[in-house]
Amino acid sequence: MSVIVKLSKVTKIYLSGEVSFQALKDIDLEVKKGEFLAIIGASGSGKSTMMNIIGLLDHPTSGTYKLDGHDTSRLQENTLAEIRNSKIGFVFQSFNLLARTSAIDNVSLPLIYAGVDSAERSKKAKQALEQVGLADKFSSHPNQLSGGQQQKVAIARALVNNPEIILADEPTGNLDTRSGEEVMAIFENLHKEGKTIIMITHEEDIAHHAKRKIRMKDGEIWKQ
Ligand SMILES: Nc1ncnc2c1ncn2[C@@H]1O[C@H](COP(=O)(O)OP(=O)(O)OP(=O)(O)O)[C@@H](O)[C@H]1O
Ligand SMILES: [Mg+2]
Repeated sequence: MSVIVKLSKVTKIYLSGEVSFQALKDIDLEVKKGEFLAIIGASGSGKSTMMNIIGLLDHPTSGTYKLDGHDTSRLQENTLAEIRNSKIGFVFQSFNLLARTSAIDNVSLPLIYAGVDSAERSKKAKQALEQVGLADKFSSHPNQLSGGQQQKVAIARALVNNPEIILADEPTGNLDTRSGEEVMAIFENLHKEGKTIIMITHEEDIAHHAKRKIRMKDGEIWKQ
């Protein structure tokens, strides 16, 4: 399998006023196409910092990040945004849904950015919601859904553009055990379909669903 994500000697230093903090230290990481990877580590160990770099939401301070063979430091911001919208689907701990907006409209949002017409948007959004088991909740608003259902809407939104990579930062962090397992069942299906999944979690039971685990400590990967 080919390598889709390759970090080489990546560092991240945050500067706030006079104070600097090194959140990532010489990170080397390769993720192959179709892998299901879990990233485990204590709070503050640099997991989200690394995920944000992989998701093109932030830049390394030094080192290189190649996405699908392309050196991302050589790409313009608008190209990076295009890649982010077409290749990467994000799932967050806090769902990040628009509150006054139905499930179907939340899921349609990335398609609006992608310039897809309204009939096609509606069709694709319905398919994505069906895929996560929410065929009966198209017009429900987030406050009419359970936490687990809201996270499924967020997953449908991440999937609707058919991205190659799913990045999930603590996707079960706000869910009870049963909803967490349902979300993991969806991720396992996506993995079977060939998606690349990179998931951050604190919980060993959740990490167990991934096919490979890495551990972070103080800005370094200490066990691969
Ligand atoms: N914008 C920022 N400015 C300054 N320091 C930051 C910034 N973002 C993160 N940090 C610091 O970098 C370190 C790593 O943060 P990060 O969010 O990557 O940790 P994490 O492993 O995701 O933790 P958690 O499990 O709590 O989400 C922390 O010490 C944090 O305080
Ligand atoms: Mg984090």
